[in-house]
Amino acid sequence: MEQLSSSRCVRVCQNRTCKKQGAALILKAFQSLPVLNVTVTPSGCLGQCGNGPMVLVLPDRVWYSGVLPQEVPLLVEQHLLGGQKVKQMLYYRFHPQG
Ligand code: FES
Repeated sequence: MEQLSSSRCVRVCQNRTCKKQGAALILKAFQSLPVLNVTVTPSGCLGQCGNGPMVLVLPDRVWYSGVLPQEVPLLVEQHLLGGQKVKQMLYYRFHPQG
């Protein structure tokens, strides 16, 4: 399987539409699970409104959409610690093959 970068930035959209979809809780969930070499930052609109909460992992350029608070631990475990994308959470528009 593809090995992803180990030093990352997680951008959690906090703009209007994502906020209405619960983005503040997603940011909180990430902040409660800190990972070495991973920075979590609130971001402005990521240009994908309506599919939120949107989460973008850099430099991997992996997008997650409609993220639920209870899914954050899996994302942290599998992607941020394990280096593997969480296929079932990927944003279909940018990851059509998963
Ligand atoms: S408000 Fe989050 S992508 Fe636009």
